[in-house]
Amino acid sequence: MSPANPLRVVVLISGSGSNLQALIDGQKRGELPIEIVAVISNRAAVRGLLRAEQAGIPALVLDHTRYESRDAFDEALQTQIDEFHPELVVLAGFMRILTSRFARHYEGKMLNIHPSLLPKHQGLHTHQRVLEAGETEHGVTVHFVTPELDGGPPVIQARVPVLENDDAATLAARVQRQEHIIYPLAIKWFACGRLQMKSGKALLDNEPLGPQGYLTDTTQP
Ligand code: GRF
Repeated sequence: MSPANPLRVVVLISGSGSNLQALIDGQKRGELPIEIVAVISNRAAVRGLLRAEQAGIPALVLDHTRYESRDAFDEALQTQIDEFHPELVVLAGFMRILTSRFARHYEGKMLNIHPSLLPKHQGLHTHQRVLEAGETEHGVTVHFVTPELDGGPPVIQARVPVLENDDAATLAARVQRQEHIIYPLAIKWFACGRLQMKSGKALLDNEPLGPQGYLTDTTQP
């Protein structure tokens, strides 16, 4: 994948879109051979939509409350996404549980970022749960999406220390700094053809990644 033939990416968001911004910035700096062809949010008036508009990216809202069922919403979302013919779908703070059918449709072509060292702390409120468990280490995982919630094969993890005076907000901020490094990196690998999912495993340069994916050496606050 060369800059002349960038990877077509659709980004799904529900909120602030700081990960989306990291991708936009990486693309602008010429470091990411991608084209974000659309940003879709299930919530109206969120900051991420503004970030997309400011970058000249088509930004759409598909409000899940207007659909009768999860199936109906995911079907409409799939139709909307596929109109943009993406080669990769990036979940960047998209706060929806996906139907198996939707997940399978994009298997091997959809990535998520989850704020924990998976398989620890699947689901919500990860920072608070890490603090309550008295853990000394926390982090973030990029993984391929499969029908199992936060259970697809990990691509890359970054670790951060939990400091004595941390609350959920300070810890989240430390984790997010790592998110903005490892998500663009994983997407770059995918865009360059180095990353793929095969037989349920994430492969980097044709080598299966371990159960936690590629581990970055980022233990600094
Ligand atoms: C991030 O913490 C990400 O790990 C989680 O949702 C949050 C999204 O943040 N999946 P943002 O909208 O990218 O700022």
